[in-house]
Amino acid sequence: MKKVVTYGSFDLFHEGHYNLLKRAKELGDRLIVGVTTEQYDESRGKLNIVDSLMDRIEHVRQTGFADEIIIEDHKGQKVEDILKYQIDIFTVGSDWSGAFDYLRDYCEVVYLDRTKDISSTVLRAQNYKIIRMGVIGTGRIARRFIPEAKYVSGINVESVFHPKAEKAKAYCQTFELKSYTADLEMFWQDVDAVYIASPHPTHFFYAKAALEKGKHVLCEKPMVLKEEEAKILGDLATANQCILFEAIKTAYCPGFAQLISMARSGVIGGIRDVEATFTKLESPLNRELTDTETGGSFTELGSYTLLPIIKILGTNYRELRFETIRSENGIDIYSKAYLQYPSSFATAKVGLGVKSEGQLIISGTKGWIVVDAPWWKTQSFEVKFEDSSQNEKYFVKYLGDGLRYELSDFVALMNGHERKGLKLTIEESTALAAIMENFLSDRE
Ligand code: CTP
Repeated sequence: MKKVVTYGSFDLFHEGHYNLLKRAKELGDRLIVGVTTEQYDESRGKLNIVDSLMDRIEHVRQTGFADEIIIEDHKGQKVEDILKYQIDIFTVGSDWSGAFDYLRDYCEVVYLDRTKDISSTVLRAQNYKIIRMGVIGTGRIARRFIPEAKYVSGINVESVFHPKAEKAKAYCQTFELKSYTADLEMFWQDVDAVYIASPHPTHFFYAKAALEKGKHVLCEKPMVLKEEEAKILGDLATANQCILFEAIKTAYCPGFAQLISMARSGVIGGIRDVEATFTKLESPLNRELTDTETGGSFTELGSYTLLPIIKILGTNYRELRFETIRSENGIDIYSKAYLQYPSSFATAKVGLGVKSEGQLIISGTKGWIVVDAPWWKTQSFEVKFEDSSQNEKYFVKYLGDGLRYELSDFVALMNGHERKGLKLTIEESTALAAIMENFLSDRE
């Protein structure tokens, strides 16, 4: 009996997939089809898969060509599968010619002619109109955005707004955008969605104006600095059927999502403590340490450290208090927020003028989880126990600057793929804004 194996995402199942599976089956007697998980696809840079894994498996099953369907979830699995299933032929479309020659050490490798003029990528582009995205602000963060946006299909960054036209113009030229403007009314005409990367105190104004015009909003953290403002934005987004995302990149990256599921799974028992630290040494001349109104370690980094706390322990804390070390101008250079929940504690520790180990520790009644620095770009974490032979370490890929993940989810939600939208809710963003508000009033 000749055994054949092939792999793919099989997203938006199309004729090319059908033909490939048919010919793969004809190569032997038994066909095994590996369908990739969303997480594996994300780790190899395919961020925009539309169909769920279950749907993609079902579509493969319905062809009747697969004798067995397996799931592909990690690099290196192909060799493992070939040995495990005693495969004679590995086959894949000719777009991969050469890429799998290394498997010839284990079995025969056949590249089948690809069906012309069709692919999931083409279908995704046809099914969904390209979203025209505009950027508000031209500073350091706004500059990181465009290179990352190139990895996400379905959007095109077309325009930039800055109240000073020359700044907008320079940004527009650097990133070769279609247009720039210092006139907000004109800006709205050119965009379907906006990325807000202006100074913190202006977020509310721009986000509100955008939502009122029916534009989707991806807003840099902290989205707003007052609870009431977050509620107003949330209500406006609902009323105008707009997507509103707070851009805390950690919330959307695959490693962090896996970590949160793991922590909530009960594997370390009941969670009693979450300690999150993020510090960086900032030049005293930078805005973060000179803007006496909204600069400082907590407004700058607090969103990151509060994120795992809110995600794991929720928003119903009983007590909140802060400790702060300030520089001469009154700005906090090192801050701690303590949150007390009915049966657990949490500490968020941030610094711009004090350096510490940037780690995240989650303590439970059966064990604990240590997420290595920089945990906000979650790449590895270890689940640990008193009996260290039970310890297990997990590694997850984090690509580039990480902004591509939030942007990919943002686009998916705009296109109506709800299942992508649960990573940071407006209720959680509202809770974060309430903590920021408390901190700033305390600092005064
Ligand atoms: N395939 C094919 N003919 C096509 C498209 C895909 O033979 N027109 C084959 C691929 O070569 C692969 C399998 O179908 O062996 C699954 O491919 P997959 O990557 O899931 O499909 P694509 O349409 O190529 O997806 P994408 O555009 O996302 O890369």
